[in-house]
Amino acid sequence: MSKTFYITTPIYYVNAQPHIGHAYTTIACDTIARRQRMLGYDTYFLTGTDEHGQKIERAAQAAGTDPQKFADEVSAQFRGLWQRMGITNDDYIRTTEARHKKGVEALFRRIRDNGFIYKGTYTGQYCVSEELYVDGLKPGDPCPTCGRITETVQEENYFFKLSAFQDKLLALYESQPDFIRPETRRNEVISFVRSGLRDLSVSRSTFKWGIPVPDDPKHVIYVWLDALSNYITALGYGSGDVSKYNKYWPADVQMIGKEIVRFHCVYWPAFLMAAELPLPKAIIAHGWLLFEESKMSKSRGNIVRAETILDVLGNDALRYFLLREIVFGQDGSFSFDALVQRYNADLANGLGNLASRTLTMINRYFKGEVPYPSQKAAHKAADDVISGQAKNTIQNVHSFFNEYQFSRGLEAAWGLVAAVDKYIVENEPWALGEKQDEESRARLATVLYTSAEALRIVTALAHSVIPEATLKIWAQLGLGDITKFDLAGLKWGQLQLGTKLGKVEPVFPRADKKSIERMQAMEDQQRGGVIAETQPATPEKTALPASEGAKPAATGSPNANITDSKITIDDFAKVDLRVAQVKVAERVKGADKLLRLEIDLGYETRQILAGIAEAYAPETLVGRKVVIVANLAPRKLRGLESNGMIVAASLEGGKPVLASFLEEVPLGARLK
Ligand code: ME8
Ligand code: MG
Repeated sequence: MSKTFYITTPIYYVNAQPHIGHAYTTIACDTIARRQRMLGYDTYFLTGTDEHGQKIERAAQAAGTDPQKFADEVSAQFRGLWQRMGITNDDYIRTTEARHKKGVEALFRRIRDNGFIYKGTYTGQYCVSEELYVDGLKPGDPCPTCGRITETVQEENYFFKLSAFQDKLLALYESQPDFIRPETRRNEVISFVRSGLRDLSVSRSTFKWGIPVPDDPKHVIYVWLDALSNYITALGYGSGDVSKYNKYWPADVQMIGKEIVRFHCVYWPAFLMAAELPLPKAIIAHGWLLFEESKMSKSRGNIVRAETILDVLGNDALRYFLLREIVFGQDGSFSFDALVQRYNADLANGLGNLASRTLTMINRYFKGEVPYPSQKAAHKAADDVISGQAKNTIQNVHSFFNEYQFSRGLEAAWGLVAAVDKYIVENEPWALGEKQDEESRARLATVLYTSAEALRIVTALAHSVIPEATLKIWAQLGLGDITKFDLAGLKWGQLQLGTKLGKVEPVFPRADKKSIERMQAMEDQQRGGVIAETQPATPEKTALPASEGAKPAATGSPNANITDSKITIDDFAKVDLRVAQVKVAERVKGADKLLRLEIDLGYETRQILAGIAEAYAPETLVGRKVVIVANLAPRKLRGLESNGMIVAASLEGGKPVLASFLEEVPLGARLK
């Protein structure tokens, strides 16, 4: 019986398009999955999309489309991106699929039959954005996780007896210290559970977009119970064919971002215990990818799309950067500068250069056949230093990767790249190549063999992280298909004498300053340099009146700004529209569409960035009265904080026309 390995990503919400925060998790899991396959495990890798719940229903409404169509579009975007990135997931689960619904129903019934679900009345605060019940808040209080105003929910619900699992959960964390990683997250969970667990409402009856409660279809199942079940429904749980479930469950690794630890480390194991099903072996929570100093997220509007990086630097560059630069488990910042710097230093000048100089010299001096290293006179201590370091590197990289310490594993592997570079410089194979005497030839053979063998080892170790370049280097080394290589057996000296090299070509072309500008421009264009477009599809914000957002919402629906859904006067009242006067207007360096404005509200002045530079010359705006959304959360564009949004009509082709008044209006006057 072969060893199995089951790994999952969270299933991503379809209210937002994919960005490199999602890609980070998916890349980490793909790396682990590829490595496990190379180590001989029968590996199953699952990802997918989370499509039910109030948040998605509202996002669809705001986009003027029905939730299924909305989910179809965005789910296809995620799937398409993963395909383009060569992600090796074995399945892609969507919570709107029939197979999933069947599985969720089966799980719900089983938990209910076991006596852990009962009917009651819930009154309390709910955060739609997090799809989270929050205890201890008053109506109107903000969500402690995301800061959005919570909504008051008062309805008859089904409850899950979470309180019955407090001791069992604590015993689980105690007896399986590796169940939650890293340690900091484990401690948080333990203190949360110790502080006491209240029963959890697991159904909603005030909206429709979800899986109906079995035998009581007035209710839909709470979106997190629905979503978490995906990890087993994708394996066939609750369907006729449970062979995959039997083979792969429990999961070996369930990877998540740190903001959803409670759902995965408290609710999920409790649901499984209630259903008497085996628990996953490990939940691993990584940190956040930050951009412009805050968590990259659609609602903050500070996202970077993977596509831009794929277009300019390629897939391996994105993967390598994220896993090398961010200490796994901690938060880490993304910037285009750092990306290009890493790419050039480690990939173009590092591994790429090592491969090309080594293989080119084997071509030139040994007709493209791996030469034989001398054991005798031509052998030097420096050769043993490299082989010794290579042996240590293999061990170290394995132990770091086994602990999911990708950055340290890659650092160790690239230590070998640096050592071989130095070895080549010191041993001057090009000088040896000019000489014809036997000793020089033997020495040259040894130096090139040693370099090529070290290159092979780094290539094998790095394959799971940078699959495309390593596939090529492996073939250039004449070794065939790297994905078939037995990584567990990797050791020094496996490169065979006389191996015929494949065609040698550079794998990482160097990037220059222009690449940074290109990527920045592509992202600015996507944002339209326009603030409105980057606002979340949450109800308060998409209910805005005509805005600067010229193009339809980024989720791609052509009807996105024609909405026939109704909002209440209270919804409208949340938007603080005011008259302001432009005092200063100037272009923003490097951003064609953006103007930096200082505006006077009468009671205060503030800075706003507006994507109107193509329609208005800055000097024509000074003194002009405009309408702004005054209570928009601040956000950063090009490192500059924007505190509000200018209101404009949005014309065909994206041209904004600023709202203005015929009569005289005082500064700060409210529009209502
Ligand atoms: O939470 N940094 O979906 P979601 C790092 N549907 N990781 C990030 C990130 C960032 N800035 N932004 C997103 C949900 N992620 C639920 C999950 S699972 C049963 C249901 C990654 O679309 C990270 O893995 O909000 C995070 O946990 C996940 O995307 C959240 O995706
Ligand atoms: Mg989220």
